[in-house]
Amino acid sequence: MTAVTVQVPAKVNLQLAVGPARDDGYHDLVNVFHAVSLFDEVTVMPGASGAHPGSATLSIDGAIDSHTARVPLDPTNLAARAASLLAREVTSAGPVHIHLRKAIPVAGGMAGGSADAAGALVACNTLWGGRVAPERLAEIAAHLGSDVPFPLLGGTAVGTGRGEILTPAVAEGLFHWVFALSEAGLSTATVFAEYDRLRPDAPVPALDTALMTALAAGDAPALGAALTNDLQRAAFALRPDLRHTIDAGRAAGALGAIVSGSGPTCAFLARSAGHAQELARALRALPECAGTVTAHGPVPGATILEATPAS
Ligand code: C5P
Repeated sequence: MTAVTVQVPAKVNLQLAVGPARDDGYHDLVNVFHAVSLFDEVTVMPGASGAHPGSATLSIDGAIDSHTARVPLDPTNLAARAASLLAREVTSAGPVHIHLRKAIPVAGGMAGGSADAAGALVACNTLWGGRVAPERLAEIAAHLGSDVPFPLLGGTAVGTGRGEILTPAVAEGLFHWVFALSEAGLSTATVFAEYDRLRPDAPVPALDTALMTALAAGDAPALGAALTNDLQRAAFALRPDLRHTIDAGRAAGALGAIVSGSGPTCAFLARSAGHAQELARALRALPECAGTVTAHGPVPGATILEATPAS
């Protein structure tokens, strides 16, 4: 194999229920992940000969220059860490070059970095002979970050524990979304810390059965009414302008409006693909909105687009 390209989806959280801080600093969650048709592409190819197996060099391009400029192209990049962790388990591993083609907002609450790590795991595993089983890839993914296992799976799934224990959920039909982007990112750790400050008495998180019923029935109005995110108040405290974005999307006719994960991207559920375009136009007129993306979900998880054999 000379190069492998894997497509990985962004996620939006349909429910994000956050419990109190645990002794290890993480929070128990009930996290309904939903994969949407906004994809990064991760390409891996053999790296400089003589370099350490699993060591990675990185390059990047993408739709939003101000976002791609914020991605570290060094060993701290989660995709590079994925390659290095996987290499410990594969005797045929070598050094790699990883190219990221980014469409998912950076530090946007849509798990773009986690998606890239999931993509790097699948791409490196293929490049190195595909010997690591999917179950083991999911374990390595959980080690890399709470949101990394989900983009391997895709679709719609309930995450428990710190979000990494996944159970696929039944979802009927397609849902249409608009995402309002922000120029600046938000740090997940900072948003969780703000949540602890605002909610020292957080209850044990529980799955919303009305949301699961709406998903199984493909009932977009009911799903829109059931969207919840416990981190939203913390995101509003750090970024008061987001409250305006959410209110404006609702006023423009969104079925539901929510901060995506730890933000600052805001997600709006539309009635149809056409309605999503209308909502996007209204949101782009807001002074705090840096742009919009429309997408549908659910979509599959990490998918190999191309694997070029050595000639
Ligand atoms: O797991 P990951 O490294 O992606 O998490 C990033 C940060 O988000 C953690 O350092 C922690 O501050 C916060 N987090 C949390 N509880 C979770 C998941 C993430 O507090 N369940």
